[in-house]
Amino acid sequence: MYLIANFKAHQVDMGPYIRRLESLPKTEMEIILSPPSLYLQMGANSRFSTAAQDVSSYPEGPFTGETPASVLKASGADFVLIGHSERRHLFNEDSPLLKKKFTNCVEAQLHPILCVGETLEEHTTGNYLEKIRKQIEDVYVASPFPPLFAYEPVWAIGSGKIPSMESIEEVVQLIRETVDGAKVLYGGSVNVENAKKIGAITDGLLVGSASKNVETFIQIIQQLETL
Ligand code: PGA
Repeated sequence: MYLIANFKAHQVDMGPYIRRLESLPKTEMEIILSPPSLYLQMGANSRFSTAAQDVSSYPEGPFTGETPASVLKASGADFVLIGHSERRHLFNEDSPLLKKKFTNCVEAQLHPILCVGETLEEHTTGNYLEKIRKQIEDVYVASPFPPLFAYEPVWAIGSGKIPSMESIEEVVQLIRETVDGAKVLYGGSVNVENAKKIGAITDGLLVGSASKNVETFIQIIQQLETL
């Protein structure tokens, strides 16, 4: 079971956050902290894994302002989120760009987590399975890493709405059929109340706003531990 805390572009006091998490008994779960990249090193010095929220599509070189995969790796990142819907929609990241990012990560031995998901319109018209399959086929390349995906319906992120359990299961099944051995996390309005039921039908959770407060995040860990 994977559990990712995505702090997005929020200021989170990483030192106390990590110390509080480290005061908990060890768990089988893979807890991954995903802070703004300036703080990756702090996560890397803890007992938890870290994920960068994005990566440059450029390699190392004279590209001022970029953070290439090899640099993230050297600063202690274990994973990278590729194609989070905020990147796709706010920063117009398309599949060819995401494929470059994905490939750069694999070359730098940084484990990519490919985020996929449909808009509300695609969800209500029922066209989302095809869309998600295409998002995977356009970007995913096989690598020595276990294939990791995050199903994040665009309309569920930060909205307090989640899909039905049947529809989450349908997407998890589709991703597992599309890529052999795929592990599928769910993200989008995960909270203490819904974490257990969603955790039961997926391989983990990607938590945004409910991870900012460490005590709320701990309650989510505790919910998953009862599975
Ligand atoms: P949310 O965000 O939990 O705040 O909906 C999830 C995400 O964007 O990863």
